[in-house]
Amino acid sequence: MHHFQYQNGALHAEEVPLARIAEEVGTPVYVYSAATLRRHASVFREAFPADTVTAFSVKALSNLHVLKLLASEGLGADVVSVGELERALRAGMKPDQIVFSGVGKRREELRAALRARILQFNVESEAELRTLSEVAEEEGIEASVALRINPDVDALTLPGISTGKKDDKFGIPWERALETYTLARDLPGLKPDGLDFHIGSQITSLGPFERAAERAASLVRELRGAGFDIRRLDLGGGLGIPYADGDQPPLPSAYAEAVTKITAGLDVQLIFEPGRVIAGNAGVLLTSVVLTKHQTTKNFVVVDAAMNDLIRPALYGATHRLLPVAQKEGDPSAYALVGPVCESTDKFTDAAMLADPQAGDLLAFGTAGAYGAVQASQYNTRPLVPEVLVDGGSYKVIRRRPTLDEMLALEE
Ligand code: LLP
Repeated sequence: MHHFQYQNGALHAEEVPLARIAEEVGTPVYVYSAATLRRHASVFREAFPADTVTAFSVKALSNLHVLKLLASEGLGADVVSVGELERALRAGMKPDQIVFSGVGKRREELRAALRARILQFNVESEAELRTLSEVAEEEGIEASVALRINPDVDALTLPGISTGKKDDKFGIPWERALETYTLARDLPGLKPDGLDFHIGSQITSLGPFERAAERAASLVRELRGAGFDIRRLDLGGGLGIPYADGDQPPLPSAYAEAVTKITAGLDVQLIFEPGRVIAGNAGVLLTSVVLTKHQTTKNFVVVDAAMNDLIRPALYGATHRLLPVAQKEGDPSAYALVGPVCESTDKFTDAAMLADPQAGDLLAFGTAGAYGAVQASQYNTRPLVPEVLVDGGSYKVIRRRPTLDEMLALEE
């Protein structure tokens, strides 16, 4: 559920007309709905036992103001860099609700996280385990470690965002789980008391989650049998969301029910790392039509947003629902919808159904809150796209558009 709706033919974010934001802030611009973020956070959190840590995957949407809002809803953070850690801490997320994921953490990143006394390091290799042990010893701080084990489960999602198959770069191979836990126990400064899985993103059926949870539960039992005191089970993120009309991914409640049925009786604290399901439908990318253009056999609409602002279509072939900000009369026809960047892959869709598009018309890409702004770049020296947070009848700019001088200042 989200709060982007038409009122008298005009698309609103909560009570604010998107046309007003376009007018006052300019386009392209990401617009988020605070009510939607709050709702998603509470629905997810309340689906699980009270001691569960819901660690929002900061990579999905890392704006400080959004993180503050989620912190006030009781969410923690899943971070993958010292930068994300700093964001989570500045947003007020509690260190004992922060987990550190990632396949290539550097020594200084591990040090910063140790000093912040985070809940858990999700360690993905023997090499990382050794480095973490050294840094923990230097700092005199014991590190709580969960090994991220690769369960070799097919997440049945886009190949580019699947992470739990045996030849993916992520995690420790299933067959080496026990020996790696033994190494962790033998190395100084480490407390291997957690287990971590994450099998992929935009997963739209329960099967892969159930298979992963079953493998995790059996591994918890096996590890305990071998004398390891496993207290936490982190099942990662990955729950999919509807991008197109008709998509029906499982609701958080169904996901929670399926997974907790399998983990019940294990006596572990559960951790989840949801990103997309919290942020995805809480944001749109607002853009305006620059011009229309008619090639030999194809009609184009060129908008002012481009692949550098929303890269998912160019990178993964992803599609985002297209919403006219002002509903128009007339029969729609198909247009190729492209941005101004000098690449043929700077195309959002080949079949945008639009009624009489004109320069200045406003359009919104739906479901753009997750992996939207965070994956933006300045390619073609286009300024990083700004972000706006709507709350009820008002909004604020939570990241402004940089000036050209600011963009060039780092090169002076
Ligand atoms: N935990 C770990 C260890 C992850 O790698 C990820 C996402 C998450 C949690 C959050 O997953 P979520 O709940 O959001 O599915 N850029 C791609 C998605 C990449 C996901 C990377 N890892 C996209 O635009 O679809």
